[in-house]
Amino acid sequence: MAERKIPWWQKGIIYQIYPRSFKDSNGDGIGDLHGIIEKLEYVKWLGMDAIWISPIYPSPMADFGYDVSDYVGIHPMFGTMEDFERLLGTAHSLDLKVILDFVPNHSSDQHPWFQESKSSRDNPKRDWYVWRDPKPDGGPPNNWLSVFGGIAWEWDGTTEQYYLHSFLKEQPDLNWRNPEVQQAMLDVLRFWLDKGVDGVRIDVIFKIFKDLQLRDNPPRTDGHGHGKNLGEYDSQYHIYDQLQPEAHEVLRAFRRLFDSYGDRVLIGETHLFNWADLVAFYGDRDELHVPFNFALIYLDWDAASFRRVVDEYEAVLPLGAWPNYVLGCHDDHRIATRYGGMAQARTAAMLLLTLRGTPTVYYGEEIGMADVAIPPEQVQDPWGLQVKGIGAGRDPERTPMQWDGSPNAGFTAEGVVPWLPLAPDFATVNVAAEKDDVSSMLTLYRRLIQLRRDMPALHVGQYRPVDGVPADCFVYLRQEGDQRLLVALNFCADERELTLSYLGDGTVMLSTYPDERGHVDLSALVLRPHEGVLIELTAGG
Ligand code: NOJ
Repeated sequence: MAERKIPWWQKGIIYQIYPRSFKDSNGDGIGDLHGIIEKLEYVKWLGMDAIWISPIYPSPMADFGYDVSDYVGIHPMFGTMEDFERLLGTAHSLDLKVILDFVPNHSSDQHPWFQESKSSRDNPKRDWYVWRDPKPDGGPPNNWLSVFGGIAWEWDGTTEQYYLHSFLKEQPDLNWRNPEVQQAMLDVLRFWLDKGVDGVRIDVIFKIFKDLQLRDNPPRTDGHGHGKNLGEYDSQYHIYDQLQPEAHEVLRAFRRLFDSYGDRVLIGETHLFNWADLVAFYGDRDELHVPFNFALIYLDWDAASFRRVVDEYEAVLPLGAWPNYVLGCHDDHRIATRYGGMAQARTAAMLLLTLRGTPTVYYGEEIGMADVAIPPEQVQDPWGLQVKGIGAGRDPERTPMQWDGSPNAGFTAEGVVPWLPLAPDFATVNVAAEKDDVSSMLTLYRRLIQLRRDMPALHVGQYRPVDGVPADCFVYLRQEGDQRLLVALNFCADERELTLSYLGDGTVMLSTYPDERGHVDLSALVLRPHEGVLIELTAGG
């Protein structure tokens, strides 16, 4: 079958690396660029096409790198610019693309731009951030809340104004209405594109513009809708502190820049749970290539909900827009923990890697890492400390990668204390132990990835849901040319029988159970508890 030319970011799979936790090469208990370089062969062996690395820039680490104090540097804790260039060169020699995180909504309060901005009301950079007078009663300018807890305004006693921070007070929001800010950020993007990076993932892109009049958000009493539970932050409808139309103009400028470099990708963290809001970020195919779709992350493990969300998404995608799915990331609990166990995580892997659209895999999911309980005195995440209370937050899904069964799991040298504790099960759940084990999660991921790469029906084919199946099952067809695949996922802990006589018969290419199933008759297809199967339908069937 002649294949049409498909951009790498459509055909490929993205692997997210949280750099603090991937591999420590210098014994400080924190991952670094040398560590990533060392493991690129592994990423390649896994079958990935691109790595997205969470922020590696100079930063006081109030939000572990999402508080950037120099947009065009490398934090010495991670290495040097030469190390980064070496990483890029090594990745490219392995035919792996490199995607960086780009954090335009806010900088660190230690960034020289903010230091200047706060130094006086008439400093030339004053207007680079969002400063406002207090209300007549001395209170903050409006009712906006910080995602990380409390009011989104911080008082500056020296210049007697408030500044806006959508996240920590150490993360002041930049003023994107100022053309100099836009210019400076375009220069930052140009800097990295010139170095040869293949794309960026833009942090909270939907927040960069706020209402010009800074109007109060209206109160909300119906919880958090389909998104993540953010506590007090969910007590408002966020209609004035984000999602302003001007963001689209900026994205079009980003896209023009990226297009002028050729084959680069613009990904956005569009943490949005209203389809219209989300798909708007494709623009007229002139904004983001990949507005991240998080819609599956907060669903209960329920076949009907998953099917409904996938079908809705397929239906609302604008013409020519390429879908994508994120099932795990550094802000959300691990898949195995969220869905209640390893059997569910295996079925979720099959789902993620057989849906239509670019999948993103968070490091460690491929070996079945689960959330790690963090003792109160070791909690690091500022959101965990401020909003969720001790013991919660995002640390459990950010623990060190488990490479082998040696002390410290091969993440860092023996005797070093890693920045977050290792999972208690690392002696068995690790790359070395799973590599040659046919029944391991790692083997399942590798086989799924290989099939996705090899089969056009999977990486480019149509998606069609299948009706008339038991309520606990999500079943769909993927088809390209003569290649027809059936994916049947059982979301429950009991056996389920499917009667799909009209589909004829086929061959099981892969089951989430490690045994070989071979030829199957679809008039009576039995799925075992939590089993997922990928079946190639017999031609003409
Ligand atoms: C979204 C990032 O994914 C998250 O980790 C970070 O804390 C916030 N944006 C603020 O930058």
